[in-house]
Amino acid sequence: MAECTTEEQWRILEFYSGIGGMRYSLMRAGIHGQVVEAFEINDRANDVYEHNFGHRPFQGNIQSLSAAELDKYAAHAWLLSPPCQPYTRQGLQKDSADARASSFIRILELIPQMQHPPIMLFVENVVGFEISDTHKRMIAIFAKTCFVTQEYILSPLQFTIPYSRPRYFCLAKRKPLCFKNPYLNFQLLHRFTPLAALKDSTMMAGCPPEEVEEECYLSCQPIRNFLEAGSLMVFEQDCHDKEVKRSGDFFEKFAVPHSLIERWGSAMDVVYPCSKRCCCFTKSYFRYVKGTGSLLATYENLKDEAGKSNEICFMKDLGLRYFTPGEVASFHSFPSDFSFPEHITIRQRYALLGNSLSIAVVAPLLEYLFTDLLDVIEAQNSAVGGHAT
Ligand SMILES: C[S@@+](CC[C@H](N)C(=O)[O-])C[C@H]1O[C@@H](n2cnc3c(N)ncnc32)[C@H](O)[C@@H]1O
Repeated sequence: MAECTTEEQWRILEFYSGIGGMRYSLMRAGIHGQVVEAFEINDRANDVYEHNFGHRPFQGNIQSLSAAELDKYAAHAWLLSPPCQPYTRQGLQKDSADARASSFIRILELIPQMQHPPIMLFVENVVGFEISDTHKRMIAIFAKTCFVTQEYILSPLQFTIPYSRPRYFCLAKRKPLCFKNPYLNFQLLHRFTPLAALKDSTMMAGCPPEEVEEECYLSCQPIRNFLEAGSLMVFEQDCHDKEVKRSGDFFEKFAVPHSLIERWGSAMDVVYPCSKRCCCFTKSYFRYVKGTGSLLATYENLKDEAGKSNEICFMKDLGLRYFTPGEVASFHSFPSDFSFPEHITIRQRYALLGNSLSIAVVAPLLEYLFTDLLDVIEAQNSAVGGHAT
């Protein structure tokens, strides 16, 4: 087993690195680790990753990596966010028969062949993955290679972010390492309070997700906190004391055209700056309006009439606009210094963000995965009177 002293950094591999959501989550969690390599096939995602981290991920198909190649990295942890299309409700749900699932299965199958297999794994995917055939195969490999797991379905709404994006997460540790709360082993949980000494795990496991969401709603921040400065419409008095709307280039660029409101208005999810929830932004946001993410009403003083919000003529008066890529990044809790290189188009920005993840959710999960392990190693070291090497 690869070992790590508490002074050393964890050696981490980031698979399907995209624009670096996992790496930002590691940073947010304050984990003393080094991403020794990232793997990503998409050129544009790699441009963004390099722009922000100064390192270009290994650009190739993860499926072609061998056990010997991976052994060279001697990594303690693997972070994986494989493609979700095989498991999405909108997709064909071809599951492991989908070519996009094969690289993930293949990489897991390498673990038993490795001389230095990872001792921790973290997997992120869409809700639906937990009932897939790929999940079954993943769990079978973990059992064969002596990993204990804890699984979660969590949304940013549970972390005060007004953003509904429930996702599946699997945390795996290789025995003899263990989780701080072993009562939660081999369970699928809808709440994250593992650092508290919760013994009644059955209560947690059985809690219906809708109840959890409802409960969290009250503690969420308003959407207003996630908007770009000066991005709302304001009414001003003109020289004849008449109310006029002030709109600028900013609004023009992201405005929802009236023709789209006429056609799709009834299917649009409209939110206000004071709202405490918006829908998941998918990679097709800005290309399609139906089911791809919420739209923002920028005339907040019309909120009182929100009961009418699905009436087309009323909707045209709301000053509807798309959330900007910067705002979507904020809902994903990306740091304020995250940026895109100029050559990445607006549509590409939305597409890359839509594939990424919520740092507000992933960071505490990673902290839980890594920190308790450190405690265990410290305890082991003090038991033998020194550090492992
Ligand atoms: C769900 S996204 C992960 C996004 C990432 N976590 C982030 O924060 O942006 C999956 C990523 O895997 C990449 N990908 C899919 N199949 C791949 C393969 N066989 N080899 C390498 N990368 C792959 C896609 O280009 C995509 O960026």
